[in-house]
Amino acid sequence: MKLFDVYPINHINIVKGVGSYVYDDKGQEYLDLYGGHAVISIGHTHPHYVKRLEDQLHKIGFYSNSIEIPIQQQLAEKLGHVSGKENYQLFLINSGAEADENALKLASFYNGRKKVVAFTGAFHGRTSLAVAVTDNPKIVAPVNETEGVIRLPWADEAALEKVFAEQGNEISSVIIEGIQGVGGIQVAPESFLQKIRSLCDQYNAVFIADSVQCGYGRTGKFYSHDFAGVDADIYTMAKGMGNGFPVGAISIAPKIQPAYGMLGTTFGGNHLACAAALAVLEVMEQDNLMQNAADIGGYLIDELKKFKQVSEVRGRGLMIGIDLPAEYANAKKDLLFKHHIFTGEAKPNVIRLLPALNLTKAHADRFLEAFTTVLNK
Ligand SMILES: Cc1ncc(COP(=O)(O)O)c(C=O)c1O
Repeated sequence: MKLFDVYPINHINIVKGVGSYVYDDKGQEYLDLYGGHAVISIGHTHPHYVKRLEDQLHKIGFYSNSIEIPIQQQLAEKLGHVSGKENYQLFLINSGAEADENALKLASFYNGRKKVVAFTGAFHGRTSLAVAVTDNPKIVAPVNETEGVIRLPWADEAALEKVFAEQGNEISSVIIEGIQGVGGIQVAPESFLQKIRSLCDQYNAVFIADSVQCGYGRTGKFYSHDFAGVDADIYTMAKGMGNGFPVGAISIAPKIQPAYGMLGTTFGGNHLACAAALAVLEVMEQDNLMQNAADIGGYLIDELKKFKQVSEVRGRGLMIGIDLPAEYANAKKDLLFKHHIFTGEAKPNVIRLLPALNLTKAHADRFLEAFTTVLNK
């Protein structure tokens, strides 16, 4: 049997990871500023994380949601505390797409409506409705197509007001990333998020904050939507939540009430996933990683803005997009193969930095030095 070939890959076999470094099968060290796509939040093989998972595995790894799983409640309390949304409710699943899918579904159960507002440049995952609200026709199969999605231009307040004025009573939810990731690191203007809040309140629509990539402390606040000073009704999360262990969640405002059978999952909330997620939050709290993300991210953004070759630097904390002119199209490859630094990309010509939240200034300086060489070649 061979693998279903859907990923264009770099021919590097990573066999080990420690903190912000990974190593290939030939012993070559790489600085990891990509975190396997924003997933590695507290660093590879963090000792506390490894121990917590190991200890849990020796006790029990999995049982279904048909029994009491106290570690779920521990996680809910910790997440409520660290995210500053103590009165929200937690539903656990396994991935970002699943989080968005469940959020959209829950919103529709809540107000009985069918339409969803989503924006240009959005990425929300690849399952049925998550992909329908994603702005990429190439990954939407005919079976995923739905007339329920209203696509509006990014950050266009007038367009948003107009659509609510015309169809507000049919709109179930508005879904928006606080910072678009796949869309090229576009920060949602605070006034736009505030406008979504007030229109959702006015029309009883549900504000869904997709925090799968921009959440979990990466920007210096737990949810990047927090910068706007408004609460969403549902936050979706995954990626950094488990530092590599597949776990996702939705955090649900108290006004949305549960009912038996409304949502469900086999694997979601299993003992091992909860142990991984708790380990991440414990390290984040203990090592003050949100502050570190703000500090080191702020430093990187300031330094990157000094490069005259760079068209624009966007982002917050350790979610950074570096917009380069077409002549530097090879920059990401050069960073990887000549300087052994992993970065991400978003088209066209945007380098994405999504490192672990405990990145140090020395790591940042090593990247800046390599980046200088790459741009001056
Ligand atoms: C903003 C956003 N939402 C949802 C997803 C989907 O997450 P997953 O790949 O875990 O299904 C992603 C993945 O990149 C994402 O960036």
